[in-house]
Amino acid sequence: MNSNRTFTMLKPDSIEQGNMLPILNMIENAGFKIIALKYKKMSKDEAEKFYSIHSDKPFFTDLVSFMTRGPIIAAVLEKENAVEEFRNLIGSTDPLEALDGTIRKKFAKSKGENAVHGSDSDENSSIEIDFHFDSNEIFS
Ligand code: RTP
Ligand code: MG
Repeated sequence: MNSNRTFTMLKPDSIEQGNMLPILNMIENAGFKIIALKYKKMSKDEAEKFYSIHSDKPFFTDLVSFMTRGPIIAAVLEKENAVEEFRNLIGSTDPLEALDGTIRKKFAKSKGENAVHGSDSDENSSIEIDFHFDSNEIFS
């Protein structure tokens, strides 16, 4: 059975462009319950660890500097089949390929600065939730 939790971040571009509340609204309107929420700025060390799977990619340096240039919103979301449902809601990494009605289609400006993060598997959602939240910060 799939987990009913996933992890998201509203990336610095979303905060800078004033899209924090519209994006949280889209998430709630799609039936996700926000069971943990944090407004924070990641350190370079944290961003490098969080995206370590991409450390050998050509875009890694740009990704870390983007993710640390301003605050993010980190959240834990609850819904049946949460990981897959949320990946459907955010759309493709590149907003040019994202479908109508997705968060990235509406708010992302480029493949690099693409508004939101969503966990890509139950295993990673669990790791990412633990990375950002203590269990007593999650209200299920
Ligand atoms: P995320 O992990 O943030 O939810 O994004 P994703 O699964 O859709 O994409 P992933 O392949 O995991 O890439 C992580 C993030 O790196 C940046 N990126 N830039 N310029 C580029 O070619 C490029 N490719 C990836 C994006 O911020 C992407 O979301
Ligand atoms: Mg990813």
